[in-house]
Amino acid sequence: MLEIDGIAAAYGNIEALRGVDLSVEEGGITCLLGPNGAGKTTLMMTIAGLLKPRRGTIGFLDRDITGMRPSGIVRRGIALVPENRLVFPDMNVHENLVAGAYLRLGKRKSQVQQDIDHVFERFPRLQERSKQMAGTLSGGEQQMLAVARALMARPRLLMMDEPSLGLAPLVVEEIFRIISDLNADGTTIFLVEQNAHMALQVADHFYLLEQGQVSFSGKPGQLSEHEVIQRAYLGKGQARNQPAPDQGRPDGTAL
Ligand SMILES: Nc1ncnc2c1ncn2[C@@H]1O[C@H](COP(=O)(O)OP(=O)(O)O)[C@@H](O)[C@H]1O
Ligand SMILES: [Mg+2]
Repeated sequence: MLEIDGIAAAYGNIEALRGVDLSVEEGGITCLLGPNGAGKTTLMMTIAGLLKPRRGTIGFLDRDITGMRPSGIVRRGIALVPENRLVFPDMNVHENLVAGAYLRLGKRKSQVQQDIDHVFERFPRLQERSKQMAGTLSGGEQQMLAVARALMARPRLLMMDEPSLGLAPLVVEEIFRIISDLNADGTTIFLVEQNAHMALQVADHFYLLEQGQVSFSGKPGQLSEHEVIQRAYLGKGQARNQPAPDQGRPDGTAL
């Protein structure tokens, strides 16, 4: 469904992706694991068209979408739930959802309302808080809103960048249940996670990204969870007594 071929990307002189090859099969859950600073967010942003790659191609449903504008990529069926949730804090829940459908506004308002009803069925807690400002929701509710907003674009491929980051264990379980439900209902998922234990439970296929390159690709069970976790958190280099690689910002975030 999604074919990434030799993608390289950089911020000025900082090379974040050094030739990434990866594919996401339709209907499944593909996970991307890797230490902070490996380039996971950069890859998601590049696929979403928010960052132009220096080299390589991105194909989606047999079309080349490399260099396409973000709005065009959303229209083709790819939606991104960004890292750190990034809901519009000063807009209420309902307004955030309408914003998620903005590419369709002007076409059929009744359809947008139908989709809002649909996501409210999936997330009853958001319906209860429909008029609440998004910035005052709990972390878990904001994450649900971020997912719901992405669903308003009716994606065929939903990309999620660290949806469980900073959430309490019970909320993390809920988020993973939502991911499984969405997938069961036909949405293909491409998931970036730091929580390798949870990710390996839902993934059909996973990739390890280290220093801007894929270092392993396989099915859960092909590497021991211990080894995956060691590499996903620390990077292979560090596990072999090299000095710690750049671990990104102290709070573990980027961008
Ligand atoms: N806006 C930016 N400007 C400069 N460098 C950046 C920026 N965003 C990320 N980087 C750098 O690019 C590399 C990859 O970052 P990122 O894709 O955020 O990694 P991950 O999501 O795997 O933690 C890191 O070295 C990071 O410091
Ligand atoms: Mg990231």
